[in-house]
Amino acid sequence: MLALGLAAVLSVLATQVAANTFPQNQVPLTGNTQHDESTTAEQPNIVFILTDDQDLQMQSMDYLPLIKKHLRDQGTFYKRHFCTTALCCPSRVSLWTGKAAHNTNVTDVNPPYGGYPKFVSQGLNENYLPIWLQDAGYNTYYTGKMFNAHTVENYNSPHVAGWTGSDFLLDPYTYSYLNSTYQRNHEAPVSHEGEYSVDVLAEKAYGFLDDAVSAGRPFFLALAPVAPHSNLNVSLVNGFAELGTAIFSAPIYAERHAHLFKDVKVPRPDNFNPDRPSGSNWVKKLPKLSEEISVDELVDGVVSRLADYGILDNTYIIYTSDNGFHIGQHRLRPGKECGFEEDINVPLIIRGPGVPQDFVTDIVTTHTDLAPTILDLVGRKVPETAHLDGEAIPLTISGISDATKTRHEHVNVEYWGFAIAEGRKFPGHENRWWNNTYKALRIVSDSWNLYYSVWCTNEHELYDLNTDPGQLINLLSHDEQSTAAPTYIQGYSLEKVAARLDSVLFVLKSCKEETCVHPWRALHPAGNVENLMDALSSRYDQFYMQQQARIEFDRCENGYIVDAEGPQFEKDGLVDRHGLSWSEWA
Ligand SMILES: *[C@@H]1O[C@H](CO)[C@@H](O)[C@H](O)[C@H]1NC(C)=O
Ligand SMILES: *[C@@H]1O[C@H](CO)[C@@H](O)[C@H](O)[C@H]1NC(C)=O
Ligand SMILES: *[C@@H]1O[C@H](CO)[C@@H](O)[C@H](O)[C@H]1NC(C)=O
Ligand SMILES: *[C@@H]1O[C@H](CO)[C@@H](O)[C@H](O)[C@H]1NC(C)=O
Repeated sequence: MLALGLAAVLSVLATQVAANTFPQNQVPLTGNTQHDESTTAEQPNIVFILTDDQDLQMQSMDYLPLIKKHLRDQGTFYKRHFCTTALCCPSRVSLWTGKAAHNTNVTDVNPPYGGYPKFVSQGLNENYLPIWLQDAGYNTYYTGKMFNAHTVENYNSPHVAGWTGSDFLLDPYTYSYLNSTYQRNHEAPVSHEGEYSVDVLAEKAYGFLDDAVSAGRPFFLALAPVAPHSNLNVSLVNGFAELGTAIFSAPIYAERHAHLFKDVKVPRPDNFNPDRPSGSNWVKKLPKLSEEISVDELVDGVVSRLADYGILDNTYIIYTSDNGFHIGQHRLRPGKECGFEEDINVPLIIRGPGVPQDFVTDIVTTHTDLAPTILDLVGRKVPETAHLDGEAIPLTISGISDATKTRHEHVNVEYWGFAIAEGRKFPGHENRWWNNTYKALRIVSDSWNLYYSVWCTNEHELYDLNTDPGQLINLLSHDEQSTAAPTYIQGYSLEKVAARLDSVLFVLKSCKEETCVHPWRALHPAGNVENLMDALSSRYDQFYMQQQARIEFDRCENGYIVDAEGPQFEKDGLVDRHGLSWSEWA
């Protein structure tokens, strides 16, 4: 291929694009292409389904039989998939740009720290996945919720870029299941009062699918229904949906589904409204509390249409959610925004050519890995300007099998601002908690299953999910329950483990690109430490326990204000500015 002249390549491309057929060797532009050279002859289509606030931990997937039939049974379930910021807008921006929130600086749902205007002002509207896909010859379509603070007032200043066809839900009606407003291409917004939002979306989705097929090019179609997010009655204040005054209520199902969930209850594991408080900071102070199917049909509708068009075998379907959700765990009223497993572990199911069927893997993947995965699928080289922080997810049996040995085991979770209870308001009870700013790390491997976090109040948490899946015993807390807890994990002292976790999180909290994927290499440039187990070698005790900088906040801020966040890896390097050992410091 390299021997071909550019003009020749372009003309081949043009012909093939028109025919929706690419020669198998036309696009091995990345070193890590997903395609087995001998199999794929056509550039695949991709359908991406993004639900809103769908947990994995509360077993919501059990109630979605058509998703099971079409996706789970026909594809691979990545059960260790995580969002990196458990809030809609930052999470969606990370997903569509392939960057951690600290590199997009879209960290909230509304300005000044987040929302659609912040996405635009950060230059991301010109530099994200759909634009890269269009450059790769794809037609791109989107319907549903794009970002928060994308409103009936600002939708055209500027329009969202990158979509061949689009029909967006707009605020303040995004979460109004029975009174949504959609805005198509560059047209004016249209109210769908009295119609069920997910059904409206399904019709739009099928329309785009028809358009995509008749255009005869490979396509990327993204569907982002609001289900199962809470219903929200809110108005714009100074241009944006003001959550503090919003009225949240349970998500509304379509009339035809009213009989389905009568006996469904939130599962009640030991962290459900526990007798003792758990967590740190505001979570620990919570008082004990005194006490979702149209997406399924949408998937069925899309899959049967793909089959009717005869293109199902050349289409990847990716199913995930922007973030998770908690109801009652840790005494939390309905919401997200925390680092607990309910909030960060989200479904990811992928089916498509070469993807193992009825297969479950526990390799660690995150939302920042999805853009690189999709670029890989379409054979698009990562653009110079993309600065992706993730790594493509393997989609073949051999790729997944290699990854179980070599893929990283960490997830970098981050959050800034406040948390909000989405249930009804209880008089005299807090509805919004400030100082919900933290850095966190999940480590998941055959040996380890840890969650470590440092709050802006400098409180620390460490949970061993192997022995404490409900995250009820903070091993770094000094309260009665925790001091009775083990002081060793896997034979290593807590102090040793925590020192390593803190150092790698210190690197991750401001990492860029490669360093986000391989943070241990930044600590060990010789490349002989790739994971926690390697780093626990006693020869590094001095290095980790006495020489390393610690994560430390100077104060709590509601956005990514660097000078509130203590020493920085790039600027301050590795050595602790206080010269304290881990035990003196912790
Ligand atoms: C539905 O939304 C429209 C704006 O699109 C608004 O004018 C109308 O009052 C809303 N209806 C209800 C019942 O809230
Ligand atoms: C939304 O809330 C406003 C103000 O509380 C109320 O007047 C209106 O009826 C509510 N709309 C719906 C559709 O519940
Ligand atoms: C937030 O944390 C700061 C310490 O950074 C503390 O002074 C302040 O009282 C806390 N605010 C709330 C609302 O808890
Ligand atoms: C992130 O955005 C906020 C709000 O515009 C700004 O104050 C802050 O300095 C930005 N942070 C970084 C690291 O650029």
